[in-house]
Amino acid sequence: MTKLLKSAIESDILEAVTILKNGGIVALPTETVYGLAADASNEMAIKKIFKAKQRPENHPLILHIQSVYELENWAKIVSDDAITLAKHFWPGPITLLLPKLDSVSDIITGGSKNIAIRVSANQTFAKVLQSGKFSLVAPSANIHKKLSPTKAEHVMHHMNGLIDAVLDGGACNFGIESSIIDCTSSDIKILRLGPIQKKEIEDVLKKTVQDVSFSETSGVSGSMLQHYQPNKKTYVLESALIQKFILKNTNCIVLYYSDEVKGILDNARKIQMPNNPKDYAILLYSSLYDADRSDAGFILVEKPPESEQWSAVNDRLKKASV
Ligand code: TXA
Ligand code: MG
Repeated sequence: MTKLLKSAIESDILEAVTILKNGGIVALPTETVYGLAADASNEMAIKKIFKAKQRPENHPLILHIQSVYELENWAKIVSDDAITLAKHFWPGPITLLLPKLDSVSDIITGGSKNIAIRVSANQTFAKVLQSGKFSLVAPSANIHKKLSPTKAEHVMHHMNGLIDAVLDGGACNFGIESSIIDCTSSDIKILRLGPIQKKEIEDVLKKTVQDVSFSETSGVSGSMLQHYQPNKKTYVLESALIQKFILKNTNCIVLYYSDEVKGILDNARKIQMPNNPKDYAILLYSSLYDADRSDAGFILVEKPPESEQWSAVNDRLKKASV
């Protein structure tokens, strides 16, 4: 049985810490999505994460530390650009890829010479790290390739019985996974799009960075074409095509954001999405969860605009759809 703990209860936080100290695995809230955490110094505990998620062992895990000052315990080289990004964006939804120290376990990095590290802005997560005086590895708390969880109930849906506990800290603030930035060379690359946009990174570093998030070779499981998928088949369609589609297929549920599409949906099953990218991202996974649990046969999503501000949302939608 998976224990449901509450972040508002101090003794529940301490219980989560104790479980982690004893080599258990606990889902914790972060500002992006819920993470499935294990003590980063305990290889047996880390292996439990791979088993529970059904995740291939060569898919590396993100390490969560308390502050930029702990980087030297894990990374062999921390470039000036990495320090600049860490000081500007941490705690926050950005992960830095750095060359790992030889002492860092290959189980964390899936055999890679690099390690992905972040400092979460979630207060509950920070309290767990402080009380435990440890670092935690934490991938998203979902079964491999399924939707990432943004609420404790989503974690329970996937993982009840497979993990020791879930610490319920309410809904996540950003709703999509952190931006991952490769800082292993002076050519800074975006490996995964996320809440922190390319332009923000370029403004802070005062140089151009490359978006390689769609390349097959980046070694990031989040860059595989099919990822973050609902169980029901999901199609992303231009606004104009939605009407044609639902006239022929009444068996769908529609995630829409425009007034144009709202006007044609009448009695169709539907979920209204925000019309700005930040709020859309917050609700993206939870709306797909709701759509997945509805009695519709498949999911239609109104395609958001192609602009840079929507790039992370469009990336996740591309991966969720067939
Ligand atoms: O927002 C987030 O990043 C969430 C929260 C829980 O922190 N975590 C998360 O972890 O999304 P996960 O494992 O679901 O996705 C992490 C991605 C994976 O695609 C993994 O391949 C990549 O980061 N990654 C981790 N370590 C890496 C490494 N050493 N080299 C290349 N990619 C790495
Ligand atoms: Mg994930």
